[in-house]
Amino acid sequence: ASPQVIFSGIQPTGVPHIGNYLGALQQWAKLQNEASPKTTLLFSIVDLHAITVNQNPRQLRNACHQMLAALLAVGLDSKRSIIFFQSDVDAHEKLMWILSCRAQMGNLSRMTQWKACLAHRSKLNLSDNAPPVEALLNTELELGLYSYPVLQAADVLVHRATHVPVGHDQAQHLEFARKCARTFNHRYGTIFQLPETILSPAKRVMSLTQPHLKMSKSHQDPRSRILISDSTEEIAQKVKTALTDSVSGVSYDPVKRPGVSNLIEIMHHFRADGASCKDIARDCENLTMRAFKEQVAKCIDEHLFEIRQRYEELMGKEKEGYLREVAESGAVRARESAAETMHLVWDAVGL
Ligand code: ADP
Ligand code: NA
Repeated sequence: ASPQVIFSGIQPTGVPHIGNYLGALQQWAKLQNEASPKTTLLFSIVDLHAITVNQNPRQLRNACHQMLAALLAVGLDSKRSIIFFQSDVDAHEKLMWILSCRAQMGNLSRMTQWKACLAHRSKLNLSDNAPPVEALLNTELELGLYSYPVLQAADVLVHRATHVPVGHDQAQHLEFARKCARTFNHRYGTIFQLPETILSPAKRVMSLTQPHLKMSKSHQDPRSRILISDSTEEIAQKVKTALTDSVSGVSYDPVKRPGVSNLIEIMHHFRADGASCKDIARDCENLTMRAFKEQVAKCIDEHLFEIRQRYEELMGKEKEGYLREVAESGAVRARESAAETMHLVWDAVGL
């Protein structure tokens, strides 16, 4: 079925990197621009999710502002799409509590992201088996981090989204949201749509300095990622220092040549002509690594040029009022969307 309600969220991690852009934001803009006029689109900056880690309040406020400017800069249109901060719409948390009352801890403890976090914190081995509850309770783990997928489920279900664009790493959480919806519908009557996953077409963009890891905000080295606000010079410098290998010439082989192949993939995503990675590798086959990297940087820079200009303009002092208006009108519309669902939910549970 064609999408009726599209919802997606992103954490306020500050200026997005090209992994965020290719893996999520570019697709949001495309979905918006290609959606039928009847489709409702909601894009949320999920700031409540951001406090599951030890955030700095001043930095968080700034990162929220940057992410809103970035969403507009990549082409989301606040007239067409409902762009809002999660914490402006109380219904997200209220529905989370209602879903929590039926959500199963067993399901939560099997989440890949949770297990990775657990392994990291307690140096446990990652295994397919859920860690025993005792092991879990013995470590100092916060409830919010554990129940995070329930809030994510509420984000989606409170707007009765029919379609949710996500990266591969979030597919399991969306499966959990469907489970929450089925459990609720089974007990109280069918209120929730089962949201369909729209998987991001872009593969994972890898770190420039450690190409076996995904490009991420959480990596120490700022040269590992290109931000959508980076200048021509910054892009050129970061691509220049990207880790490649000493094999001569350019070829596409993600296993043997992860660094070079990542640059080819980035070029593939940023080029508008639809050239495949193999095509690009063939075109660049005889280039020196230096000349190849110059081409990669140029291609990224050309694509990001307009986005960067819009971003800079939106971050200006004189645009603060405008951003506030966007957030306020987004919040009003998102509250309306959520209120329709909550009206049915309160009635169904007997409150
Ligand atoms: P980060 O790892 O930098 O903190 P997030 O986890 O906040 O990024 O991800 C925000 C969105 O960007 C998600 O939809 C995620 O799938 C996507 N994303 C993040 N990193 C990458 C990457 N390296 N390649 C592709 N998509 C990514
Ligand atoms: Na992350």
